[in-house]
Amino acid sequence: MGKGSAVKLKINGREHEIDADPDTPLAYVLREDLGLKGTKIGCGLEQCGACAVLVDGRVELSCTSPAASFEGREIVTVEGLADTDTGARVQRAFVAAGAAQCGYCTSGLVVAVTALLDGGGKPDRARTAAALTPHLCRCGSHPRVFAAVEMAAEGEA
Ligand code: FES
Repeated sequence: MGKGSAVKLKINGREHEIDADPDTPLAYVLREDLGLKGTKIGCGLEQCGACAVLVDGRVELSCTSPAASFEGREIVTVEGLADTDTGARVQRAFVAAGAAQCGYCTSGLVVAVTALLDGGGKPDRARTAAALTPHLCRCGSHPRVFAAVEMAAEGEA
């Protein structure tokens, strides 16, 4: 497909009609066509978690699935999380805990933690670890990420 193709996506509460090849992976459309650079592309192979976004409230990777496969669904990126109670609290907690080193994994982690907390209850360490396992951090920020999760879960941020 070439010029003239349009993909209709609802992102952060707004409808977009984007002139893009429908087979383009969502992460590239977010970053290159819409300027939403908060979503990172690390491996591009669904192996690192950097490209995670919320789709209908669940964590999904965006680096390989065609943008067209997200039509009719509610996409929330790390930018849009600032407009949600849980997402904003998680973002504040990450800042307060200093839970980023190079920052490449941070967006995906914030997305995953928001989904975890929106799932209800206060997650224990094992549940948090399970939710965050798909999100690789090569800097070793995990202790501060766990601290951020606890702060956000306690409403301290
Ligand atoms: Fe999508 Fe690594 S960039 S999982």
